[in-house]
Amino acid sequence: MVKSVLFVCLGNICRSPTAEGIFRSKIKTKGFKIRHDSAGLTNWHEGHPPYEPMKNTCENYGYNISDLRARIIKKEDYRDFDWILAMDDQNIDELKNIYPSDPENKIRKITSFIDGSLNSINVPDPYYTGDYEASLNLIEQAVEAFLNQIFE
Ligand code: 4NP
Repeated sequence: MVKSVLFVCLGNICRSPTAEGIFRSKIKTKGFKIRHDSAGLTNWHEGHPPYEPMKNTCENYGYNISDLRARIIKKEDYRDFDWILAMDDQNIDELKNIYPSDPENKIRKITSFIDGSLNSINVPDPYYTGDYEASLNLIEQAVEAFLNQIFE
């Protein structure tokens, strides 16, 4: 039984808060109670709200993420969450440095749950690409696929 999910990205102001916002909206609709949080691999934006253009794009799609605040990932997060879902291969490499072993196989790239050709791609970092919508659309697909798999 999945009780908790942590979404991870580099800065915790674009992709992982978006993933958390989409996830909490979808589980609310489905009536599931699952603890969720997001964290960054850096402390660059510690305590900050989501980046304005990302927040606005989420808002346009019906996801309000303005209450979320960035934090850096902690050692204890591995123990405290059932799943740790990252956005790209670089995130996965950095998670492997923090958690050298993953005995419960709980660290995954979020796109790995999508069937077909998208299942190994990285979620582009919109902070650099400027394409907030493309990242949101991919995250939305991945969250939907994750929910379908864990609650099939
Ligand atoms: P995120 O995007 O990892 O999706 O939150 C980034 C946000 C900020 C920076 C890098 C990535 N930054 O360099 O400040």
